[in-house]
Amino acid sequence: MLKGKKIILGITGSIAAYKAATLIRLLIRKGAVVQVVMTDAAKDFITPLTLSTLSQRPVLSEPFQGGSGQWNSHIDWAAWADAIVIAPLTANTLAKMANGQADNLLTAIYLAARSPVFFAPVMDVDMFEHPATTKNIHTLQSYGNILIPPDEGELASGLSGKGRMKEPDEIVSLLESFFKKKNRFRGKKVLITAGPTYEKIDPVRFIGNYSSGKMGFALANAFAGQGAEVILVTGPVSLRTACTNIQRVDVSSAREMFDRCMKHFPTSDICIMTAAVADYRPAMPAKQKIKKSDTALSLELTPNPDILKTMGEKKKNRQFLTGFALETRNAKAEAMKKLRNKKLDLIVVNSLKDAGAGFGHDTNKVTLIDKEENIKVLPLMSKEALAGLLTEKIYEYLINKENHAI
Ligand code: CTP
Repeated sequence: MLKGKKIILGITGSIAAYKAATLIRLLIRKGAVVQVVMTDAAKDFITPLTLSTLSQRPVLSEPFQGGSGQWNSHIDWAAWADAIVIAPLTANTLAKMANGQADNLLTAIYLAARSPVFFAPVMDVDMFEHPATTKNIHTLQSYGNILIPPDEGELASGLSGKGRMKEPDEIVSLLESFFKKKNRFRGKKVLITAGPTYEKIDPVRFIGNYSSGKMGFALANAFAGQGAEVILVTGPVSLRTACTNIQRVDVSSAREMFDRCMKHFPTSDICIMTAAVADYRPAMPAKQKIKKSDTALSLELTPNPDILKTMGEKKKNRQFLTGFALETRNAKAEAMKKLRNKKLDLIVVNSLKDAGAGFGHDTNKVTLIDKEENIKVLPLMSKEALAGLLTEKIYEYLINKENHAI
C-alpha cells in the first residue's frame, strides 16, 4: 500500500523525535519515499544527519537552504506529497497549525497542504489535557486532518498518563489502512444531514434544539476521506468543512432541509440522517416581533415533514438508509419502531442516560440495530472514531448485501 507513496514526515521538538528514526526505516522498508521536514527545535532532540541517512534524502527545515541559496518552496512540497505525517507534534506547533501561522517551513507546508494530513500530538499529560490543546486538536480535526491519538503510559517526565507517541509500526499500519480505504467509496454519493433546525416564531425568535452537528460533520469527513462525494445538508452550526469532496448545503428550517435532501436523494447511494429535525413548527410565524403582555401566550404548532420517513417510502434497493435516534426511555424498543416505521437499513441509538453521549459532547455511546434486528452495543468513543466505525459497517453491508451482520 505504501510503495511509491511520497510522504512528508514533519518532526517537531519533542523527546519522542527519536521514534521518528524507526518510523522512517519502516516507511522506507515498505517502499515509501520519505522527505523529512524538521523544525529547529527538533534538531535539539535528533540530528538531521541521522534522519537524512535513514531517509536517503537531505533533510529540510528552512525555506532557504543556507549557502546554496536554494529555495524550498512550501507550495511545491505541499503539492508533491501523497500524505503529510507530523509525528511527534508538540503543543506549540499544534497551536500554530490550528491558527494558520506559517513561521517555518513545516507550518508553511501544512498550510499549503493538498494531501491528507496525519498529526500525532505528543506532550506531557497536563499539557495534553489543557483545554487549549483539546481545542486545537478539534480544530485540526474539523479541517479534516487525521488524529494519531497518543497512547497512555509512562512519560519522559516521569509522570504517567496520556501523551506518548504511538509506536512507529502502529503509525505505519494506520497509513497502510488509510491508503487501502482511500478510494473505496469512490463513485458513491453520500447524503448526510447534521445539526438542529430553527423554526421561526417571529423575525427574532425560533424553536431549536441543542444539536451541535459534530456527529454529522465527523461522518462527512470520514466518507469524504474514503473517496465518496458527500452532500452535507446542515442546520445552523458553528462548524467548518474543509474537504474538497464535501458539498455543504446550509439550511435553517426543517422544510428547507427536506427540500434540499429531496433534491439529492434520488442520486444518493448512502443516506445518513444525524440532524435533530424539529418535528413541529409554528403554524403562523409572526411578521413582526411579538410584544410582551401580561397574559399567557400560546403558539399553534403544525407538523414538519419527516425527511427520513419520506426517503424510506421512496427508497430503491441500491440505497442504504441510516437513521440516528436519541431516546430518553426504552431506547432499544423505540429505536426498533423507528427502524421499521421509516424502513431503515440501520439505526444508531443514543440514550441520554449514558454519560458522554448525545448533544454537544465530543464523544458518543451508541447501539447499532440493523433491519434484521441484530444489535451491537458499542463502548464510549469519540465522534470521529464512531464515524470511522460506521464507514466500516456500511462498507461491509454494501459489499456483502446477502450476508451482513453487525
Ligand atoms: N428525522 C427526519 N425528519 C424529521 C424527524 C426526524 O429526517 N422530521 C430523522 C432524524 O434525522 C433521525 C431519525 O429521523 O435520523 C429519528 O429522529 P428522532 O427525532 O429520534 O425521531 P422522530 O421520528 O422525530 O420521533 P420522536 O421525536 O417522537 O422520538
